Amino acid sequence: MKTLAAIAVAAAILGTSLPAAADGVLTANYGGQITETADGWRIEFAVRDGGIRAWVRDHGDKPVTAAGKATLLVNGKKQDVPLKADGVMLTGDTSVTPADKVATILSLSVNGKAVSARFSQDAVVTPPLSARAGAGKAAFEQVCAACHGTALRGSDAAPPLLHAFYQLGSGHGDDVILAAATSGAKSHMWKFGDMPKPEGLKPGQEKDVLAYIRAMQAANGFAGTAVKPADQGAMPMDHSGHMKH
Ligand code: HEC
Repeated sequence: MKTLAAIAVAAAILGTSLPAAADGVLTANYGGQITETADGWRIEFAVRDGGIRAWVRDHGDKPVTAAGKATLLVNGKKQDVPLKADGVMLTGDTSVTPADKVATILSLSVNGKAVSARFSQDAVVTPPLSARAGAGKAAFEQVCAACHGTALRGSDAAPPLLHAFYQLGSGHGDDVILAAATSGAKSHMWKFGDMPKPEGLKPGQEKDVLAYIRAMQAANGFAGTAVKPADQGAMPMDHSGHMKH
């Protein structure tokens, strides 16, 4: 915990990003967390199996080149991870998985200026599962996890399903999840490309998978609610693309 305090102090000194514009205004491209710094840099961060990813865009959403490092606390252990440029992405290799509790400070140089941003995620919780959700877990791990991750937090190939976009009451209702599980989905929320029709689900198993996704969402802060009319303007989750599903 001392290290966490040290990171918080370091972040305060470096002038960390402002969370103000983070949720509800900016859209992540690759399923990560996103924030905008005081200087207007949009920084997206994601944890993958065996590494981290970051993307830096300007306030007009144009990718910009950046360099630097990440200071990570993974399940309480501190790691310094150099970042390498890979196209529009920065990558850092380290022992981490999307299921881990992770706090990070990115210390970047963007156009010769120091920019820093902080992100954190909790460890993924697997709740006690009903028989149906338990069957869904097995099917999910066989058919969906290669892309969406065993922790449902996404990968370099697909977005996280533990995400406000997909929770109950969002623009992606049960029907959208069932349709994706049986037929795939056209790219419309992210920059991963289309989701192909999944191979290997038996008829009916999509309902098990749905039960598993809902149980995992509920246990990890995405319980969702029926959308109240007053909320709709504030939440960018629904969009016309979904009327056509
Ligand atoms: C080959 C990789 C891949 C596999 C396997 C895969 N998905 Fe996807 N999935 C994607 C991608 C890519 C998207 C993002 C599409 C977009 O941009 O909105 C996606 C999107 C989704 C969405 C949102 C759909 C929408 O219409 O907005 C759901 C729900 C989903 N996947 C569930 C599943 C389930 C359940 C399985 C297993 C039965 C599965 N996926 C297997 C790649 C995959």
